[in-house]
Amino acid sequence: MTTEDFKRAAAEAALAHVQPGMKLGLGTGSTAALFVELLGARVAEGLDVVGVPTSEATRELAERFGVPLTTLKEEPELDLTVDGADEVDPELRLIKGGGAALLREKIVAFASKRMIVIADAKKVVQTLGAFPLPIEVVPFGKEATRRAVERAAAELGLSGKVELRRAEDACPIVTDSGHSILDGHFGRIDRPEELAAALSAIPGVVEHGLFIGLADLALIAGADGVTAIEA
Ligand code: 5RP
Repeated sequence: MTTEDFKRAAAEAALAHVQPGMKLGLGTGSTAALFVELLGARVAEGLDVVGVPTSEATRELAERFGVPLTTLKEEPELDLTVDGADEVDPELRLIKGGGAALLREKIVAFASKRMIVIADAKKVVQTLGAFPLPIEVVPFGKEATRRAVERAAAELGLSGKVELRRAEDACPIVTDSGHSILDGHFGRIDRPEELAAALSAIPGVVEHGLFIGLADLALIAGADGVTAIEA
């Protein structure tokens, strides 16, 4: 089986948690996209749900696959968010934002009663941090913010570089909310709660990709099938 097959298996397993009438948060990324595709097939069979997309890319996908959409303005409280992750640790702490959607992903997950993470087994780590930590920042003063992030991380013993994420044309990427993304190459993040608090205290940081205390269940697909990590 390929990584794509594992991602699809995790997405399929998440569908079993979707009940008629649910208001869903729809994640971003290749795994979440498979969930949206499978959900669209169920909607075509008559399943009655609505979704709030966590990115413009997911909004377009959901429209293509026929998933009815709403907004957090119309539905400020959601039943369930299903989203992918870049890393998942055994305590269900996550790194997210590889697709630059972390701000809307976190807002939608926080507005949901439950969050299910879907991922292939390569995303499971003992300690977060091999994947560079995405941090969404206001474009104004982003170099000052970048340095402040490096200093805050260094105070916690994390010495890796923090880089502005650029697109293939070398221009800084712009998120759906008009912000920039910094990627923190920290290596092992032994105390993610402390790093999360330190990052949140920096003016110019809009949000960071450490998702702590948000996920209730991870459905992890690998060669042995789909296994669950529960909070
Ligand atoms: C987007 C995300 C994605 O969920 C994360 O990058 C995982 O993506 P994929 O399923 O493509 O591996 O956080 O901001």
